[in-house]
Amino acid sequence: MRRMVAEHRLHPADLILPAFVREGISEPVPISAMPGVVQHTRDTLRKAAVEAVEAGVGGIMLFGVPEDAKKDAAGTVGTDPDGILQVAIRDVRAEVGDDLVIMSDLCLDEYTDHGHCGVLDAEGRVDNDATLERYAEMAQVQADAGVHVVGPSGMMDGQVGVIRDALDQTGHEDVSILAYTVKYSSAFFGPFREAVGSSLKGDRKTYQQDPANLRESLRELALDLEEGADMVMVKPALPYLDVLAKIADEVDVPVAAYQISGEYAMVEAAAEKGWIDRDKAILETLTGIKRAGANMILTYWATEAARGL
Ligand code: PBG
Repeated sequence: MRRMVAEHRLHPADLILPAFVREGISEPVPISAMPGVVQHTRDTLRKAAVEAVEAGVGGIMLFGVPEDAKKDAAGTVGTDPDGILQVAIRDVRAEVGDDLVIMSDLCLDEYTDHGHCGVLDAEGRVDNDATLERYAEMAQVQADAGVHVVGPSGMMDGQVGVIRDALDQTGHEDVSILAYTVKYSSAFFGPFREAVGSSLKGDRKTYQQDPANLRESLRELALDLEEGADMVMVKPALPYLDVLAKIADEVDVPVAAYQISGEYAMVEAAAEKGWIDRDKAILETLTGIKRAGANMILTYWATEAARGL
């Protein structure tokens, strides 16, 4: 009876698997703060993509981790056609074709030696408009590599519009934009910084949002839609379910939520200590995010959860 009358139902196709691929390694490298998640080699990434397809997962979101020595102030490898992310997009596309929606993180923090999501001005502050030029180039190389959807996550003002123009002008009209519309400056990103070997010192408070604000999110939403976002995202997920619910109410485009690294780590850590039932907790968090209004959920448990469903 409970199953029959359930108001919300998770489906494997709702789930999107974020995956890290690291240059120059021959074995996957475990991420200590995210037990069960690794930095993939090119080979194991292909396998993970196949497993995701077999489990019915809807999409994969790729993050590239370059060799440390290749990082510089402008994040040059982010726009190198042979940069690790571009190579990985081609690999995954060759392996699974169109059986999985292939998405890529469009941001500079994985490639900059200072770890910020943009380039810096003379005073060391993130330069919004100079960064937009880099994002436009990134959109083109990622689309050239065969990505279906780009995911701009840097929270620069105007990023969606600039990326839309860059895609349209380079013959990539059919590449979609999943806008990281609402992204809060969050402590829960901690484990991700290990996952991408980030060099960040300080914080992202000048470009990511204040957790205290909701109205600001609606403004970000209006701007992204105006600039051409095809789908919008709320991130993190669990501490911001009210924001997610509000956004899902307002829009007529698909809404995604990103259950981020720290949300994953909390459940895994408590389960490791025997303090909660891991499998039930995972399903409960995903169901809660769905109930709040997400059509799609990015989660490091995507393949496992999809199998269970
Ligand atoms: C930025 C980016 C971040 C995440 C996804 N894209 C980190 C940040 O904003 O600091 C976080 C994902 C996670 O924590 O799981 N490229």
